[in-house]
Amino acid sequence: MRKPFVAGNWKMHGSRESISNLLNGLSAQVDAVKGVDIAVCPPALYIDFVQSQLQGSVISVGAQNMAEEPVQGAFTGEVSVEMLKDMNCSYVILGHSERRSLYGETDAQVATKVQVALDAGVTPILCVGETLAERESGVMESVIATQLDAVLEKSGIAAFERIVIAYEPVWAIGTGVTATPEQAQEVHAFIRGKLAQADAAVAEKVIIQYGGSVKPDNAVELFGQPDIDGGLIGGASLNADDFMAICKAA
Ligand code: 13P
Repeated sequence: MRKPFVAGNWKMHGSRESISNLLNGLSAQVDAVKGVDIAVCPPALYIDFVQSQLQGSVISVGAQNMAEEPVQGAFTGEVSVEMLKDMNCSYVILGHSERRSLYGETDAQVATKVQVALDAGVTPILCVGETLAERESGVMESVIATQLDAVLEKSGIAAFERIVIAYEPVWAIGTGVTATPEQAQEVHAFIRGKLAQADAAVAEKVIIQYGGSVKPDNAVELFGQPDIDGGLIGGASLNADDFMAICKAA
């Protein structure tokens, strides 16, 4: 049995004040959530602040991105995996569609980052997903397969024992249009099936989150699908009641 995992991707939102309020709200409710791994991924600048507020909490902390370069150096504006480790980050989101589309991250760069994170012992949350145009033109599966192949070729199937996958259809992110449970399940099964061709045991164990307009009122049905193991939550993770309701649904 896979333990569901729900992570909040706060994206570029928050201030010390709003983050304190949000964490107080999460801390007040999190004891009621059982059998689910939970993480929050604040903007890098606030990771230390969040860690200090969450001391002793079951809620883990992750980052939203990191540098490709494994060690420190002259890379203005970047944050290294060693810095994330120094701040006790358990996870790092890699290859989010906003990184791919707005900042030009390629499959090869994402694969490098995944390997760098694995080498440092930080669990990557590897995001994959198709655009609406790709879905409508029938290349959805090949797009997702290519995104996965970049990591498979660089790190091998065994690496997926230490990778979380997030399927995020680009057309469902921040749009209020969620994939139907059937649409999401179809792609999750495709992803697991593709990994199973390389190693069935690894594929059976890998956590595959769904992300894209998950809300309290659609989470139960989405998370009830056999190959959906929790979610990567954007907008709704900024509201403590909504995020906790989604965690309970997993
Ligand atoms: P929304 O939940 O706001 O659609 O964002 C999803 C997402 O991109 C999480 O990484």
